[in-house]
Amino acid sequence: MIVGQKFFQHLQLLVIVLFLSWRATFEHSTGTEVGIKCLEKEREALLKFKDELIDEHGRLSSWGSEKYKKDCCKWRGVTCDNQTNHIVELDLCDMALRGNVSISLLEIQHLEYLDLSYNHFEYSKIPQFIGSLGRLQHLYLDGSNFSGEIPHHLGNLSELNSLGLSSFHGSLTSTSLDWLSRLNSLNYLYMRSVNLTMATDWLQTITKLTKLQRLELYSCNLSMVLTPSPFNASNSLSDFRLSGNEFSSSWIFPLVFNLSSSLSYLDLRSNKLQGEIPLSLRNMTSLTGLDLSNNQFTGEEPHLALPSSLSYLYLSDNMFTGTVTQCIGSLSKLEDVDISSNNFEDVITESLFFNLSHLGMLDLSYNQGISFNISSGWNPHFQLTDVFLSRCKVGPHFPIWLRTQKRLEYLDISNAEISDTFPDWFPKSSPKLWALNVSHNNFHGVLPDLSSNFSRFEFTDLSFNHFNGSLPILPPNGSVVDLSSNEFSGSITNLCNETSCYWHFLDLSNNLLSGQLPDCFANLPNLQYLNLAHNNFSGKIPSLNTVSYTRGQENPNSN
Ligand SMILES: *[C@@H]1O[C@H](CO)[C@@H](O)[C@H](O)[C@H]1NC(C)=O
Ligand SMILES: *[C@@H]1O[C@H](CO)[C@@H](O)[C@H](O)[C@H]1NC(C)=O
Ligand SMILES: *[C@@H]1O[C@H](CO)[C@@H](O)[C@H](O)[C@H]1NC(C)=O
Ligand SMILES: *[C@@H]1O[C@H](CO)[C@@H](O)[C@H](O)[C@H]1NC(C)=O
Ligand SMILES: *[C@@H]1O[C@H](CO)[C@@H](O)[C@H](O)[C@H]1NC(C)=O
Ligand SMILES: *[C@@H]1O[C@H](CO)[C@@H](O)[C@H](O)[C@H]1NC(C)=O
Ligand SMILES: *[C@@H]1O[C@H](CO)[C@@H](O)[C@H](O)[C@H]1NC(C)=O
Ligand SMILES: *[C@@H]1O[C@H](CO)[C@@H](O)[C@H](O)[C@H]1NC(C)=O
Ligand SMILES: *[C@@H]1O[C@H](CO)[C@@H](O)[C@H](O)[C@H]1NC(C)=O
Ligand SMILES: *[C@@H]1O[C@H](CO)[C@@H](O)[C@H](O)[C@H]1NC(C)=O
Ligand SMILES: *[C@@H]1O[C@H](CO)[C@@H](O)[C@H](O)[C@H]1NC(C)=O
Ligand SMILES: *[C@@H]1O[C@H](CO)[C@@H](O)[C@H](O)[C@H]1NC(C)=O
Repeated sequence: MIVGQKFFQHLQLLVIVLFLSWRATFEHSTGTEVGIKCLEKEREALLKFKDELIDEHGRLSSWGSEKYKKDCCKWRGVTCDNQTNHIVELDLCDMALRGNVSISLLEIQHLEYLDLSYNHFEYSKIPQFIGSLGRLQHLYLDGSNFSGEIPHHLGNLSELNSLGLSSFHGSLTSTSLDWLSRLNSLNYLYMRSVNLTMATDWLQTITKLTKLQRLELYSCNLSMVLTPSPFNASNSLSDFRLSGNEFSSSWIFPLVFNLSSSLSYLDLRSNKLQGEIPLSLRNMTSLTGLDLSNNQFTGEEPHLALPSSLSYLYLSDNMFTGTVTQCIGSLSKLEDVDISSNNFEDVITESLFFNLSHLGMLDLSYNQGISFNISSGWNPHFQLTDVFLSRCKVGPHFPIWLRTQKRLEYLDISNAEISDTFPDWFPKSSPKLWALNVSHNNFHGVLPDLSSNFSRFEFTDLSFNHFNGSLPILPPNGSVVDLSSNEFSGSITNLCNETSCYWHFLDLSNNLLSGQLPDCFANLPNLQYLNLAHNNFSGKIPSLNTVSYTRGQENPNSN
């Protein structure tokens, strides 16, 4: 009995001791109040950090010292570790914040993820103290209007896995990238539009970053530098984006081949590349994406250099010649292909597409010698989302095979020598369409109702055709509507409907429209361009509050 009682007393004591110690640890880790995880010191630090920001849109309204806001782990953009309760993530991307980055951030020593990108820090320098947040693994300061020299202190962030310093307005500079070479864990580096004119050690540095997988150095004014020697090619780089620099073919290609044999994406758009694509590129059999647009490449047989692994191929704005079929016809993995603005020729038949069953985006526009000869019964085995065939000879008939393309979003068959009526099944057959350009053809007859069932039809250009009859019922939600230079007639007094408020650009000039102008233009909040010139309107010109560009006064029939 006594033993039993003693045991019971002991048990009670144990329970009390356990309870007290549980309470103690609980209070220690929560800053005194039950249920609140946030640490007092870190909350204070965030409040100081907020004090130095200008938060015009109240994006940080959940941050405050009021009692009911005490738990900073619940504040917008804040994530705490669920065991230690320390703040580990601060994600303030794109919150329209202005002002200064407070040094109080240093109190949040457990921060692993900091994203301040797409805010506006008013051309201040990137604070050096960010380099002391030693546990950071992800740091994004992209597009935030920092300026000046990137502080070398960021090289102290030895745990860093991703670093985003893209500047968009070209205001950040780095005269040497040596500081980067200490970031041994770096996998992702984004430095778009950072002025690296003086950083002649950039290549030396990136060859030291042996874990780097993705590198973006767009528009950094990089040019050829001495190849570092000895040169370590055991790089893990798979995604290499260098568009908008000053590279020449003879230097960059050998470098790329040496740098990584396992590249999956190579972007050399808008450089100074000339001549033919080097044949060794074909040996890069892991390459799935290649962008060589906007250079001065020539050559009749680019296919000889293109590896069959490619899914994304962009060769636009060069001087390639030869046939489309030879260039892309055997690349059976292609999904997106843009070979616009070259000198390709071809009569395109169904056979071009024999191997291309994954095709989603096709841009053949602005080549002078491409025409289509496709039989009317063709039922392609792909579903395209974007088709650009401007200046290809697609006509004389509307391409009937488009009827099978249920996922079509963007269609441009402008300037395509089509002399036809507009089929009444189109664009109903493509319910996802949001942009349609059939301008500069010879379409005639009455347009079908374009209004049905489109959720987001934003862009309609039917100009320079011979459409007639009264104005069509326009697609809803359109912001750009160009019906100019046709033969539309009749009145426009019913022009504005519930959905007209999206209009941003409206051009009805050079038609046969007549009668009074509706009063509704003044009530269209987004309308910026309105052209009614060269019609037969009469009566009063209504007030046009918001329109910033108007034409119509020269109409001889208006008064
Ligand atoms: C940011 O710092 C500058 C210079 O120290 C100061 O003039 C300005 O008032 C600060 N802005 C805010 C929002 O604290
Ligand atoms: C902590 O959070 C992580 C991520 O949300 C989750 O995977 C993990 O299970 C959580 N741990 C505990 C102890 O709740
Ligand atoms: C950066 O500055 C430019 C020019 O002053 C401005 O247009 C842009 O909106 C700013 N960026 C952000 C994210 O506020
Ligand atoms: C951080 O880097 C700077 C400049 O690169 C250096 O002067 C400083 O000593 C470093 N600080 C720490 C704590 O390592
Ligand atoms: C980039 O830096 C170089 C050298 O400091 C300078 O000459 C050039 O004007 C800078 N470019 C821009 C766009 O500021
Ligand atoms: C690019 O670098 C050259 C020198 O290599 C310099 O003269 C030029 O100003 C730089 N351009 C820009 C836009 O920074
Ligand atoms: C190249 O990298 C390998 C593996 O990381 C290393 O063993 C070798 O010493 C490096 N060579 C040079 C010249 O840096
Ligand atoms: C590429 O590697 C070869 C052989 O290792 C070497 O001769 C050449 O100089 C290197 N080229 C570049 C640009 O690194
Ligand atoms: C491609 O690789 C093969 C096998 O390694 C080699 O024989 C051939 O010379 C290479 N071709 C080019 C153009 O580099
Ligand atoms: C389709 O692929 C086969 C096998 O690779 C090839 O022989 C044929 O020429 C290709 N078709 C076209 C149009 O390129
Ligand atoms: C189009 O192809 C058909 C047969 O496929 C052929 O008879 C006709 O001549 C071709 N037309 C043109 C203009 O090439
Ligand atoms: C606006 O709606 C009326 C009546 O529903 C219709 O007759 C007219 O064609 C529509 N106008 C446009 C531009 O869609």
